[in-house]
Amino acid sequence: MFTSKISGTGHYVPENVVTNDDLSKLMDTNDAWIQERTGIKERRHIKKGDGNSTSIMGAKAATIALENASLTPDAIDMVVFATLSPDMYFPGGGVQVQDIMGMGTIPALDVRNQCSGFVYAISVADQFVKTGMYKNVLVIGSENHSGGLDFTDRGRSVSVIFGDGAGAVVVSRSESEGGILSTHLHSEGKHKDELALQGPSTNYWVPEIIADNPQENIPYYPYMNGQFVFKNAIVRFSEVIMEGLEANGLSVSDIDMLIPHQANLRISQFIQRKLKLSDDQVYNNIQKYGNTTAASIPIALSEAWEAGKIKKGDLVVLAAFGSGFTWGSTIIRW
Ligand code: ACO
Repeated sequence: MFTSKISGTGHYVPENVVTNDDLSKLMDTNDAWIQERTGIKERRHIKKGDGNSTSIMGAKAATIALENASLTPDAIDMVVFATLSPDMYFPGGGVQVQDIMGMGTIPALDVRNQCSGFVYAISVADQFVKTGMYKNVLVIGSENHSGGLDFTDRGRSVSVIFGDGAGAVVVSRSESEGGILSTHLHSEGKHKDELALQGPSTNYWVPEIIADNPQENIPYYPYMNGQFVFKNAIVRFSEVIMEGLEANGLSVSDIDMLIPHQANLRISQFIQRKLKLSDDQVYNNIQKYGNTTAASIPIALSEAWEAGKIKKGDLVVLAAFGSGFTWGSTIIRW
């Protein structure tokens, strides 16, 4: 078996800043409610005509990650692309990035695990690198939420939370100790309807949606049972962080930096208090970007690294929870 490490990180967010006050012009909401419940001050939204899409933002983040890794696209052996908001129903974002970046006929895999997508994707990359099959795997999380949210009063409890953006890492074979120590993944499909977008899907295709439309039945917008998600998230986040630490003979006091999926600042703060971590040990940027689902961890990781908050030898913990429900953690000796 080989060891694997993160050799480069990068992120990209659209320029267009949407504040809570901007949203309050579209729906019955306000800055105080949004900040109090979620911690979010502003988020980025793709603007029509700015040239961005889920795959294009993913490619922009990936280009920076490759530069940081001092690699060119021809060194990448595989693309793993995590998103819940692909440019097209099919094919997925992986092949689009492969095309945009002019890569050879390497495999491109899409991961559909929503907020846990990046942790699932990094786990896939880790297995391919550790077994020796590939040397460099490009892992991308990218989301265009703003294209599919309900910005009327009807959708306010969901649409104020989400933002657009992309993050990427390169997972590379390493000669030294450390790197990605473990990944732990879980799911519980019985809660699949608590945070979901029902259509268009093969169960509920466009003509049926149009026929049923629109007043009460709005399965083409995301549905979230917020309080139920919150309660499950705080339990599963803590569990899977502890599972990862214990598997490596580590404890909470060993954590130098926890990067939780940026679901809601209140969820991150709850976990921080539960694990008794200081402000320096947890990285949050949901205040600026909202919840960018599969992109939130790689954006935060890339920012934290750029800001010098992660140093060689640090123990970095990534943890996610989201729709499915699915959850997971990654333990890294940087
Ligand atoms: N602005 C103003 N008022 C609002 C808004 C809004 N944007 N949205 C809902 N409200 C109102 C509701 O209509 C309700 O009014 P009522 O009391 O008159 O009926 C009131 O605010 C309270 O609504 P709740 O839904 O009970 O609010 P809650 O305190 O549960 O907060 C929230 C909602 C923020 C979604 C919360 O449940 C939460 O944080 N859940 C966790 C889920 C989460 O973070 N998901 C992120 C995505 S999933 C993931 O990444 C894991």
